[in-house]
Amino acid sequence: MAGTVVIKWGGGLITHKDQLCTVNSEVIESLAKVCADSSKRLVIVHGAGSFGHMKAKKFRLAEGRIKGMNQDDAVESVRSDMKLLNKFVMEALQRAGVEAKSFPPHEWALGTGPNFEGELPIFDGVTVVFGDVVEDKEKEFGILSGDDLILRYSKELDGVERAVFAIGGVDGILRVPPGRAGADDLIEVWNPDVEFEGEHASEIDVTGGIGLKAARGAEISKNGIDVILVNGEFPSRVLDAIEGKSVIGTRIMSGNS
Ligand code: IPE
Repeated sequence: MAGTVVIKWGGGLITHKDQLCTVNSEVIESLAKVCADSSKRLVIVHGAGSFGHMKAKKFRLAEGRIKGMNQDDAVESVRSDMKLLNKFVMEALQRAGVEAKSFPPHEWALGTGPNFEGELPIFDGVTVVFGDVVEDKEKEFGILSGDDLILRYSKELDGVERAVFAIGGVDGILRVPPGRAGADDLIEVWNPDVEFEGEHASEIDVTGGIGLKAARGAEISKNGIDVILVNGEFPSRVLDAIEGKSVIGTRIMSGNS
């Protein structure tokens, strides 16, 4: 049987991050085609972008229940926005001829961060999950990031060969923020001892930005799984990354292996 590859489609890649609930259909279509062309068994984890972060930020959903604040409508609304984004993803996969099934995390996951509870759902074809508002024992609810989902799938599923982070706007981890970076600033091999000036737009991003991806990537790599971060706007790079070919991007190592 083909080896398994777990791939994250970053929210900033598949949506227009600064306009509420707008998809980047061109990118979604091209990623779906890449999945159809791949020889691997895939688990796709997609992010939220403008379908999640804006409302989640405004209603402080990552902090859980806040006394005196009416957050219930926002919890429902972000969940339904995420279902809508997921519908765009599923329809694109179907058009590309990929047999896929989606498992919304608020229906099966409990808690946030890398140690969330719940049995990881898996489908014979392509499994699809996404960052979501999930229930939490202490906080009542919280935001489960796709970066934590990719970590757990990579570690716990049998036969995972590789984890791929497809991100938007950059070729990988850069030494300095994208606005200031030149051609030489791409870090081709990164481990936690290599410093970089990551930009985290905490005013819009309720999860962790590039820093969280790098940290989760290093954690995955500790388990002997290859981890690569690529610019998802280039379909050929995404396909090469999935297939394990050499590609422009950042390979993430655990640092002490
Ligand atoms: C965030 O998920 C989920 C919500 C805000 C509902 P991610 O952390 O995986 O999303 P991106 O990739 O940063 O958009």
